[in-house]
Amino acid sequence: HGHKPTKAGKLTFETVEPNTLDRVTIPAGYQTSVVIRWGDPVVAGAPAFDLHNQSAYRQSLQFGFNNDFVGVLPLPGRHDRALLVVNHEYTNEELMFPGFTSLDALSVGQLETAIAAHGLSVVEIERVGRSGQWKPVAGRRLPYNRRITALATTFHLTGPAAGSAALRTAADPHGKTVIGTLNNCSGGVTPWGTVLSGEENFNQYFVGGDAVSDAEKVRLNRYGITTTARYPSGSRKWDRAQERFDLAKHPNEANRFGWVVEVDPFDPDSAPRKHTALGRLKHEGANVIVAKNGHVVAYMGDDERFEYLYKFVSDKKFMPGHSPVARKHNLTLLESGTLYVAKVIGDSVASEIDGSGKLPLDEKFDGKGVWIKLVAGNRSFVPGMTAADVLTFTRQAGDAAGATKMDRPEDVQPSLRTGKIYAAMTNNTNRGVGTNAPADEANPRNANKHGHIFEITEDGGDHTGESFSWQLPIVCGDPAAADTYFGGYDKSAVSPISCPDNVAFDSAGNLWISTDGTPSTLKTNDGLFAVPVEGRERGHLKQFLTVPVGAETCGPFITEDDKSVFVAVQHPGEVTGATVDKPASVWPDGGYAKPAVIVTWRPDGGPIGS
Ligand code: FEO
Ligand code: CA
Ligand code: CA
Ligand code: CA
Repeated sequence: HGHKPTKAGKLTFETVEPNTLDRVTIPAGYQTSVVIRWGDPVVAGAPAFDLHNQSAYRQSLQFGFNNDFVGVLPLPGRHDRALLVVNHEYTNEELMFPGFTSLDALSVGQLETAIAAHGLSVVEIERVGRSGQWKPVAGRRLPYNRRITALATTFHLTGPAAGSAALRTAADPHGKTVIGTLNNCSGGVTPWGTVLSGEENFNQYFVGGDAVSDAEKVRLNRYGITTTARYPSGSRKWDRAQERFDLAKHPNEANRFGWVVEVDPFDPDSAPRKHTALGRLKHEGANVIVAKNGHVVAYMGDDERFEYLYKFVSDKKFMPGHSPVARKHNLTLLESGTLYVAKVIGDSVASEIDGSGKLPLDEKFDGKGVWIKLVAGNRSFVPGMTAADVLTFTRQAGDAAGATKMDRPEDVQPSLRTGKIYAAMTNNTNRGVGTNAPADEANPRNANKHGHIFEITEDGGDHTGESFSWQLPIVCGDPAAADTYFGGYDKSAVSPISCPDNVAFDSAGNLWISTDGTPSTLKTNDGLFAVPVEGRERGHLKQFLTVPVGAETCGPFITEDDKSVFVAVQHPGEVTGATVDKPASVWPDGGYAKPAVIVTWRPDGGPIGS
């Protein structure tokens, strides 16, 4: 043996076996610890968590529920201090409130506590010694620490749809200011040091869709809001706490959610912004790359069955460096640009795609694609829709443009190593069922329960261009099954994987994939996987970590020095019938379950995965 590697490379870690344990399992030679959990203090002076003494006020100072996106942004010039920025996607009231019987039985105070448990947290963290372990900075001077909530934080709308008629409400007659953010799922860290956060399943928070005009019903329906009953099944009935969630009284309030949010964690007094130029959908997240010509490009997925892939290209160019002038300029990059939707075409004859997942004769699911322009600045390219219409009712614009219906586009992220873009199609059990769209080469399995990875290569390597080629490097499932594909790699050497959700990269360009849904498909816990996407090892996917019972694996985030991988363990113990009094998981502290962010590192100081 010569030098110990210091940066990521070949994936040599010992594969973790699938399991159903109520713990986090990691490869031999690694350590893992909880960084922060639901209820831990965030804002200086926050009270200690007390399960039996919760309030909206307390929760507004403490770490929220159901951590999803994780970003770690180093403090300038420091290798031992960073800002941890985390999304709190939604709440499981049955896992939060002792004595829970039903959502209807919750007090208004409990509803407000749940509303405050949504949003984001910004937490200053410090390295433990020289290791890859991190923990929150303690003390009373925590200038960056912040809770952003659905309850009380003010957001500014930017871009062409800001101020438009569909965004105005009684509380905000100018249509430019929104209280709160909802269902923040995944996101991304921008090259200029901010965080993007996707507002995803915002539909579930609204009631009263039955009382709006017929034209408004069509618009609400396209986003999954029920218009046939005052209280849709599964409704969270937040109108009991805040009247604005009643569409019968405030029909435009729902239009103020479903955006990409930008948070500047280095400016704790700044109002987060919702960028209308990136369109309104069930945003999983957004990840930005600087194109060769200096424009910035955000790639995005709309996570619902048969929805679309999008990209945004900025009008302005990225200004490198961290000077105040560059920072101020770069903060405006997502306020104006061009929004595209993807049309995807296979290169094999349609008759070779039979919905079984069998490879076509060229032995690849692959082809070409085009980015269809929907709107550029204030100019709409969709007949009958204004630019504000296209940006606010983006799904309808995608329909009109003939975009390709995908199998639930989740996280979409460019590899900074190769410029290729990787998108997780998590699953679509309705593909080819009944009158639904049948399998195509890009979504090659009917009743697709395990999902696949979609790889985009922009023509000429130009992220601002309008055409691309694509391949499926991985078709997920049990590798023993004929309908799976792992880049042509020997399938006896790869791990089973189901329902890819989030993606990330280490510095060598290995793709890391976290899953959400394995308990219902492969009957084992969800986890984190790593796979090379270039060279002879392409497709050699290995499981790195498993999460406890009922949890999904979110994040993941690998630090620039490759020493740490952060994972958000979301909704541990979310099992039908389980409650905080009768838990299915007691991770991480015993007694009952708490969502938490963990960090995994090598005590020998080596790079993650290698
Ligand atoms: Fe919130 Fe698409 O997962
Ligand atoms: Ca093909
Ligand atoms: Ca997700
Ligand atoms: Ca998910």
